Amino acid sequence: MGLSAPQKPKITQDFFVTGSLIFEKRQQTVSEFMKKSISANTIVPATPVWAIGTFGNDNKPNVMTAAWAGVCCSKPPCICVSLRKATSTHGNIMKRKAFTVSIPSEKYVKEADFFGMNSARDVDKFSATGLTAEKSDVVDAPYVKEFPLILECKVIQIVEIGLHTEFIGEVIDVKADSLAKRKRTARHRKN
Ligand SMILES: Cc1cc2nc3c(=O)[nH]c(=O)nc-3n(C[C@H](O)[C@H](O)[C@H](O)COP(=O)(O)O)c2cc1C
Repeated sequence: MGLSAPQKPKITQDFFVTGSLIFEKRQQTVSEFMKKSISANTIVPATPVWAIGTFGNDNKPNVMTAAWAGVCCSKPPCICVSLRKATSTHGNIMKRKAFTVSIPSEKYVKEADFFGMNSARDVDKFSATGLTAEKSDVVDAPYVKEFPLILECKVIQIVEIGLHTEFIGEVIDVKADSLAKRKRTARHRKN
């Protein structure tokens, strides 16, 4: 079945934002669909907000926000996260070879932002937010107890890229609030 002619869009606002790009919201003519180069960059809209939990020196729990992250293998189940070498979390993972991912619910948007705007070098982020660091029972890292979904990972590969290092973690266990329903979709079964 071929594509039908584009419908005239209903304009509710003048602009929409996706990632760090701002698009003008209006009906486009065919020539306006022509792409133009905006330089080599890392613009990919809709990245996740993950809270990466690690232990620092003296077993001090830390948590930082990461958006450059994703799923990278189904067997073994693996995820990856790219961290700038200057973060405390980077050093912690290098030493412990483990991290957790705590996925916040909407209720914790402020805390998730705080975790990304502050470094463990300056502030104890768990004390400052009042959230609880829970030690994982399967990997050497803490997670955020109040967040509903937790992935506990053992590092299996470290890829030096440039300013960032990619940590590939095998998911050893997933913990979910008892209210969370597990629904396996067709896509999960196939991958
Ligand atoms: C929304 C958001 C996403 C972020 N994503 C990343 C990321 O993917 N990788 C990274 O190295 N830093 C990322 N940061 C910055 C770190 O979270 C920030 O440098 C933090 O202070 C590091 O904490 P730490 O020094 O305690 O490890 C992000 C920040 C925010 C607010």
